[in-house]
Amino acid sequence: MPSVVIVGAQWGDEGKGKITDFLARDADMVVRYQGGANAGHTVVVDGVTYKLHLVPSGIIHGKTCVIGNGCVVDPETLLREIEYLHGHGVDTQGRLWISDAAHLIMPYHQRLDALQEQLRGDQRIGTTGRGIGPAYADKAARTGIRVGDLLDEALFRQRLERNVRQLNDLMHRVYDSEPFDVRAIAEQYLDLASRLRPYITDTAALINEALDQGRRVLFEGAQGTMLDLDHGSYPYVTSSYPSAGGACIGAGVGPTRIDHVIGVAKAYTSRVGDGPFPTELDDEIGEWIRQKGREFGTTTGRPRRCGWLDAVVLRHAVQVSGLGGLALVHLDTLGGLERVRIASAYEYRGQRLERLPHGAHQLAQCRPIYEELPGWDEDISSARRFEDLPENARNYVRRVEALVGVPVQLLSIGPDRAQTIALDDVFAAAARARGAGAR
Ligand code: IMP
Repeated sequence: MPSVVIVGAQWGDEGKGKITDFLARDADMVVRYQGGANAGHTVVVDGVTYKLHLVPSGIIHGKTCVIGNGCVVDPETLLREIEYLHGHGVDTQGRLWISDAAHLIMPYHQRLDALQEQLRGDQRIGTTGRGIGPAYADKAARTGIRVGDLLDEALFRQRLERNVRQLNDLMHRVYDSEPFDVRAIAEQYLDLASRLRPYITDTAALINEALDQGRRVLFEGAQGTMLDLDHGSYPYVTSSYPSAGGACIGAGVGPTRIDHVIGVAKAYTSRVGDGPFPTELDDEIGEWIRQKGREFGTTTGRPRRCGWLDAVVLRHAVQVSGLGGLALVHLDTLGGLERVRIASAYEYRGQRLERLPHGAHQLAQCRPIYEELPGWDEDISSARRFEDLPENARNYVRRVEALVGVPVQLLSIGPDRAQTIALDDVFAAAARARGAGAR
C-alpha cells in the first residue's frame, strides 16, 4: 500500500490541515515528522472547527497518529491538546503515539527563544516564541533531553541539572536574566511524564510495521519548504526540515518507502514572521487578500503578509521535495479581482533568474517578473467539478501547472471538505508511482 508525504510548498500556513484531513480518511496512519507546537492546523469536520498544533488531525477520524522523532514536544502543550480532544469526544488512548526519540521543549528553550529574538533587534526572525530553535539547537549540540528520558527519573534529573547549571551561568553573564529553578522544572516535567507515559513508544518501529503490513501511511509536514532549515530562505527559517526528505529522518523510514509527495500551495502567497518575500503586496490588494482569505495566524494570531503566487518558490519546492503534484488551495479567495498575477521569474542584479538565489540576502534584492491573467468575478465556492469553474479560473490553474511543471491534483475552493475538487486520486497516484519504480 502506498505512502504519501504532504509538504507545504511555500512559507507555511498553506492549509495543509484541510488537505491532510481530506487524505487522512483514506489513510490508516498519519505521522508528523518535524516541528512542534509552532504549527497550527485548523480543520472543519462535520461543522466542528478543531484547532490543533501538534497532534495530527487524523485523530479526529480515529486513525493511528504519530508524533515522530523529528518533532520537538512541549509536554504541557501536548497534554492540553490531548485534553482538548477528549473534551470533544475524540479518543486518543491506543491511537496516539509519541516517539521516545523526539526532543523535549523545556521552559528554558522558550525563554531563550524570546531573549535571542530581542538580541537580534531589527534582524529578528519573527519566531513563534515556542522555543523551537533553542530546542533543536540543543538536539544538534547533543545536550537535548528526549521524551524517552522522562521515563528514567534519575537520568532525566541528571541531564536537566547539567543543562540548567550551564544555562544559569549564561542567564547571569549574558542575558542579565533570572536563573532557572531546576527542582521546579524537574517536578513539573516528572508529573507530566506520568501522564504522557502511555503514549510513548518506539514510533519508527510502529511506522515501519504499518508499512510492512501494507497500511496506507500519510506523512504530514508542518511549516513549508521556504522555512526549511537547509532549503528555505535562510536564516529566516524554522529549525527543522519540512521538505519531504525530513519525513525519512523525522519518522525513521527509508526513502524507498515514500511513494508520492504532494505540495500544498495557496493560489497566492502568505508569510508570517520576518524575512524577504518578493511578491509581497503592501497595498489594498494585499489587504483585500488578507481579509478575504482570513490570513491571521492560528498559533500567534499575527496578521499574515500576503502577495501574488510565486512560481519560482513552487519550482523550488518541486525540486527539493520531488513533488509529484500540487494541492492548490484558496482559489476562491482570488475570485473578484479584475486581474491576477503570477511571478514566473525574478530579476536579480539585471539578470533573469528562474531559480531561487542563494539565501535571504539575495532574495531581498529580487524583483518578481509577473505574468498577468484575467481574473474571475464569480463566487466559485460552490463548484464541485473542475468544469464548473469559470474559464479564467481554469486557465489560472492550467497556467500554474505549466509554470511549475507538475499537475494540480487537488483544488480547494473553501474550508469545507465538500469544497475540494479531486483532479486525481492521490493514493492511486502513489500506487502508480510505486508500480513505475518496481519496473
Ligand atoms: P520558529 O519555528 O518559531 O522558530 O519560527 C521561525 C520562522 O518560522 C518564523 O518566521 C515563523 O513565523 C515561521 N513559522 C513557524 N511555524 C510556522 C507555521 O506553522 N506557519 C507559518 N510560519 C511558521
